[in-house]
Amino acid sequence: MKTIRVRDKMKALVLSGGKGTRLRPLTHTMAKQLIPLANKPIIHFVLGQVAAAGLRDIGIIISPETGEQVRQSVGDGSHWRARVTYILQDAPRGLAHAVQAARGFLEHSKFLMFLGDDLIQDGLRPLVREFATADYDAMLLVKEVPDPRQFGVAVVDEAGRVLRVVEKPKDPLSNLALTGIYLFSPAIHKAIDAVKPSPRGELEITDAIQCLIQRGGKVQARVLQGWWLDTGKKDDVLEANRVVLDEYARRAVEGNVDDKSRIVGRVEVAKGAEVIRSTIRGPAAIGEGATIKDCFVGPFTAIGPGSHLDGVAIEHSVVLESCSLQHIPRIEDSLIGRNVKLFFSGSGRQTLRLFLGDDSEVAVV
Ligand code: TTP
Repeated sequence: MKTIRVRDKMKALVLSGGKGTRLRPLTHTMAKQLIPLANKPIIHFVLGQVAAAGLRDIGIIISPETGEQVRQSVGDGSHWRARVTYILQDAPRGLAHAVQAARGFLEHSKFLMFLGDDLIQDGLRPLVREFATADYDAMLLVKEVPDPRQFGVAVVDEAGRVLRVVEKPKDPLSNLALTGIYLFSPAIHKAIDAVKPSPRGELEITDAIQCLIQRGGKVQARVLQGWWLDTGKKDDVLEANRVVLDEYARRAVEGNVDDKSRIVGRVEVAKGAEVIRSTIRGPAAIGEGATIKDCFVGPFTAIGPGSHLDGVAIEHSVVLESCSLQHIPRIEDSLIGRNVKLFFSGSGRQTLRLFLGDDSEVAVV
């Protein structure tokens, strides 16, 4: 007889809608969850973590603007041995609104909700296992942060019980930020129905959780020990790229490296990439079919597939696919969209720090 584990019946909901205003101009043309870290889209890391927690029935919230791109990148989920159902949220009206949109998919299941632009270090398996068998109405993954004022915050007692949640408090009563990873029982649906849009016009998940608490629901928090990265802004993306390269990059040279080049440390050179008269200092990743000629590529840099760099020194940067960067003495702390053309014909040695959307053309003379 086959045993059915409670965890098998739990579902996952990954949020990949939203406006992404803080990452414009890049998000004018791409979903922020598809921005690559070490050349892999953020949402792929999320799906890897969800699947590793044993959840295979995954709903992904998509927006009308970027939903098709997300579908193309993720497919049917078989890459993670999961089944993916796409759920269209007609407008970005808040995290609780996304749960409402997913009600038909979620049915009466318990579920894990994971923001599609969030990354954490530790595995979720123990958390999911605990929630699957406990009688909690919600469990929140929280992280101690030095300045909680920019986050949703949970006030928690010694037994891990959440007494209150507050969105971006001016005078925080706790330093435990909500990471964007939540476990819910179906009781959350009624709580969502009871809340009204906030002053910023969104149905807030924190309001729904607060409502659950006020109605006597059992809400628990668990403190995340490892790192937590939210990729909402340009510098967050660069930091996430740094952490991901630091943690996961390995030395794997599959492309061609000529004998005048030096590869130092953990550098991934994907197949079809060419490195000519250049130094690459890891941790770094060079995508498929990229060419790196007469360059210095410094630590914490990812160069996207099919991008061509000629006479460039670059570090701590993310360059997306199909870019052409030529004769630039120094690029640092930059996030460069797809198909960008960047030329430098001046004689100075100034450092460029750039944030460029797809298809930008910049000539520095
Ligand atoms: P946020 O980063 O809070 O919002 P946003 O994506 O609209 O970005 P910005 O603040 O820069 O305008 O969203 C967190 C995650 O939840 C993100 O992956 C997008 C997703 N999301 C939805 O799927 N639907 C929504 O209605 C909202 C607000 C966010």
